[in-house]
Amino acid sequence: MKSLCDFIEPLRLDMIKMGLGRSLFAGNLVYRESVDSTNTLARALADQGAPEGTVVVAEEQTAGRGRMGRDWISPPGANLLFSLLLRPPLEPENVFVLTMVLALATIDAIKAASHLSCLIKWPNDLYLKRKKLAGILTEFSVREKSVEHVILGLGLNVHWHPEPGKGIARQATSVLSETGIRTDRSDLLVRILKTFEVYYGHAKQGKTDPYYKRWNDLCLVLGKPVVIELSSGEIHGLALKIDRQGALIIRDRKGTEQRIISGDVSIKWEGEDV
Ligand code: BTN
Repeated sequence: MKSLCDFIEPLRLDMIKMGLGRSLFAGNLVYRESVDSTNTLARALADQGAPEGTVVVAEEQTAGRGRMGRDWISPPGANLLFSLLLRPPLEPENVFVLTMVLALATIDAIKAASHLSCLIKWPNDLYLKRKKLAGILTEFSVREKSVEHVILGLGLNVHWHPEPGKGIARQATSVLSETGIRTDRSDLLVRILKTFEVYYGHAKQGKTDPYYKRWNDLCLVLGKPVVIELSSGEIHGLALKIDRQGALIIRDRKGTEQRIISGDVSIKWEGEDV
């Protein structure tokens, strides 16, 4: 039986390099057919001194990771799996702005390539309607109160057609599932990286106003009743806004505003949770 990968073109490094031209992300592009996790490899390269702008991209991950210790599942050759190594002059409390900026760059690239309009589910997911299209895993290291490096890992479902009704697939979707059209993954990767490069340039200089506003405008959870799962328990409240450092501000059941730095959010829709 033919597998999905028999129908999908592999990533084309020559096209990607040509498309990136003189971009920050063209200089050190690391490609693997299979790797445990692009974030793990990017981290190892960072520890060996790899430069800002290193990109690790893979067709398959054998131990792909999501937030909160979850696995990231992606059939070989179907989707986009990559990690960026950055060395920004940011305070640790501002690193999360980069997640926000990568989310916006990905939204804009998907819109340009496939005419789909995604929303952000705080803190790190891209959603189409009520289904997850992509996730970002942000990891960073700090030395003497300064950020040493940041790894931004993106998993974007391009061609994976999740089987409805099974586990996480119940709430997942892909560009192909939504459009019925095969999107060129190499082209999409180039679009994301080039757009991100521009936004990242601004973010590094602290010019985050436009991004902060857009992130709030595009945030799926705002104005909705939410439940936040923290290691210490659950908080119920109304999601009010995302602050300048990327934290979620909610009003809890007692009417007190709380600032949530990380956690898992579910939206209490009528009859179902997202
Ligand atoms: C999440 O939704 O929890 C984040 C998922 C992030 C997955 C990507 S795939 C590329 C990179 N390598 C990993 O191991 N994880 C990220």
